[in-house]
Amino acid sequence: MHNVCAWSSKELSQIEEVRPVKNAYSFPLENFISREKFERIKEFSRDKETPFLIIDLDIIKKNYEDLKTYLPWATIYYAVKANPDDAVISLLRDLGSNFDVASRYELDQLLRLGISPDRMSFGNTIKKEKDIAYFYEKGVRLFVTDSINDVDKLSRAAPGSKVFFRLLTEGLGADWPLSKKFGSHPDLARQLIKTAIRFGLEPYGISFHPGSQQRDVGQWSSALTIAAQLFNWARHDLKIDLKLINMGGGFPANYLDPTDPLQQYAEDIKRFLDNSFGLVWPEKIIIEPGRSMAGDAGVIVTEIVNIAKKSVHDRYPWVFLDIGKFGGLIETLGESIKYPIYFEGQGSAEEIILAGPTCDSMDILYERTPYFMPSSAKVGDKAYILTTGAYTQSYSSIYFNGFPPLKSYILQSAEG
Ligand SMILES: Cc1ncc(COP(=O)(O)O)c(C=O)c1O
Repeated sequence: MHNVCAWSSKELSQIEEVRPVKNAYSFPLENFISREKFERIKEFSRDKETPFLIIDLDIIKKNYEDLKTYLPWATIYYAVKANPDDAVISLLRDLGSNFDVASRYELDQLLRLGISPDRMSFGNTIKKEKDIAYFYEKGVRLFVTDSINDVDKLSRAAPGSKVFFRLLTEGLGADWPLSKKFGSHPDLARQLIKTAIRFGLEPYGISFHPGSQQRDVGQWSSALTIAAQLFNWARHDLKIDLKLINMGGGFPANYLDPTDPLQQYAEDIKRFLDNSFGLVWPEKIIIEPGRSMAGDAGVIVTEIVNIAKKSVHDRYPWVFLDIGKFGGLIETLGESIKYPIYFEGQGSAEEIILAGPTCDSMDILYERTPYFMPSSAKVGDKAYILTTGAYTQSYSSIYFNGFPPLKSYILQSAEG
């Protein structure tokens, strides 16, 4: 038996009334950038061909200073890969930062910029022996490792160097987890430490990366607990004192989903260090911020190339920008990183699907995450993708579909 339901016209009109009314478009721009900076970026963009990235060095400086203030017990090794722009590196060099280096090409860049090798670590667990030899020849003496083969290579190509052992972490709670690919379980780490001693290397400490844009500060706690166990084991069983804890990156940038402030992370992590190490903390504690240093400092200026529906009944229009996954926004994979995107204009907030300009169907930015533009937005208008200072330009492809790599500019200080 079907339940037949007949609606009176009054009831139907009531249903009509409760249909959601579209809200006016609004965007909390000032949560991400000051109005003054935004106006300068807009002015700068007026006659420039999009897309491009603008980097604000004042923000990088502030982020560096905040990290020094809130984590005064940590030595900063900036993760160059996040934004290797010469201007960014030179600024951090002058501020006194050290550098986490991922390849010989980054090493060459840092040397060209006059950075001394004792301010660097080779922080990539995946490295060719000839590249290790190159780092060693240039004077680098601090290396990460997570496998027997790598320890073997290090012992031949970087004899006597300091090595730290990267732990496997799960990256749970991170928007961009780095799990599985790097690190070793503690039982393997023990073997690696013993092998390193046998091979004449100096076991220097333990490292981990909690996962990038890590929202769950508890991930530092678990990793520090394991690291402290390894310190104790090394002291009791091997009679050696490990000296270094390298906590990698993981500190957040300011994307759409809010996070705790850096100060909160810092307080929690300090407590975890106390819990794990008591009164005797490791001699040296390193952090390798990338995203939290450079992310907030960038704005990508882009243009709406097309607005299209796929059928007359389509609910959400597709908005095609002149930048997509291949132009530098690869961290939208799985809609993991949710960039704040500002469209200027008025009218109601229209929910949209956002995609890039290439002829690849995976070049879609956001299909599931609700994004909105004002109803006045039209083809040719500019849009501003905020918090794009990290992992964008260095990720952009070389001429995929003929599109050149993402250009970048430095925003000059207001004082000149
Ligand atoms: C070894 C290492 N350290 C630090 C970082 C920077 O991490 P984050 O961008 O989360 O600060 C990365 C990022 O991939 C890394 O691989």
